[in-house]
Amino acid sequence: MVKVLVTGGAGYIGSHVVKALGEKGYNILVLDDLSSGHKEAVLYGNLVVGSTADSELLDRVFSDFKPDAVMHFAAYIEVEESVRDPLKYYENNTCNTLKVIKSMIKHNVNKFIFSSTAAVYGDPKRVPIREEDPLNPINPYGRSKMFVEHIIKDLSESSDFSYISLRYFNAAGADPEGRIGQSYRKATHLITRALKVAKGEFEKLYIFGTDYPTPDGTCIRDYIHVDDLASAHVLALEYLLSSGKSAVFNCGYGKRYSVKEVIEAVKRVTNVDFPVEETARRPGDPAVLIADPTKLKAELSWVPLYDDLDFIVRTAWNWELNRRF
Ligand code: UFG
Repeated sequence: MVKVLVTGGAGYIGSHVVKALGEKGYNILVLDDLSSGHKEAVLYGNLVVGSTADSELLDRVFSDFKPDAVMHFAAYIEVEESVRDPLKYYENNTCNTLKVIKSMIKHNVNKFIFSSTAAVYGDPKRVPIREEDPLNPINPYGRSKMFVEHIIKDLSESSDFSYISLRYFNAAGADPEGRIGQSYRKATHLITRALKVAKGEFEKLYIFGTDYPTPDGTCIRDYIHVDDLASAHVLALEYLLSSGKSAVFNCGYGKRYSVKEVIEAVKRVTNVDFPVEETARRPGDPAVLIADPTKLKAELSWVPLYDDLDFIVRTAWNWELNRRF
């Protein structure tokens, strides 16, 4: 069976992709330093605990496992933190990715699936956003990912290296069967934070900015259920293995929800009327990010199954109430 090395496979999105790959029978090895991931989240395959910063470890992993492809999730993901501490992001998200790629080349592995982000678009000129639209990130997090996109494009043009970059919009929700979900100590993401407020873990929810040029003044995002995002990865891998062609895809539904609408959904699903306070903008936040997923549907035959905000929130709430880690 095809062997896939999954860096960051114990994290939120990575673990849902490992589940999807495992269900299809792929042979999986997860490499994760557990800085934000959890060993219990790895439902299939084996786990090596270690960092992508460690080139010697990477060499050993490639020599022993001999993967056919690499899926690279390991990264830091907080926009606001990236504004405060940019080098942390360039070091891990850009430099350590380069280490993974160099190790791939050394061991003759040439298929790479990259976790990119809608943050590479910055403040888009038009929405929904298409893949060919300009990249103009407005925070170090987005730039740290964009640099990798440039690097792998250059590499694909000068060698037989091929890649698929998946630009995630806002991943949310949890395994509908409740086995895994987001388990991130800081819980900065809107839906997770709101659910923790509903649960009583935090006193109130802050809305970061009500003066954006949007109908209700709060930021608009395109929330995608993490299992639909996971199925896009499996399709991307199948496409890359069969065609060897590099490509970039937006991963979102093309739906738009404001922060206030998300809060209403969380209150509706949880049946808890928690306190909310409006406060200043959070640095680095674009006003609106909406995907145009036409290419993903047309070229990879992606069919989303969970395109429903209440369902997304319900699965995340179920996880929040019953989680094991
Ligand atoms: N927000 C609040 N209060 C909170 C948390 C968030 O008002 O307590 C707001 C944010 O300001 C933003 C929106 O809710 O307007 C969504 O914020 P998240 O932190 O949930 O997600 P981001 O849009 O900042 O970032 C996420 C991922 C990035 C990815 C991006 C793409 O973390 O990796 O989606 O849209 F790039």
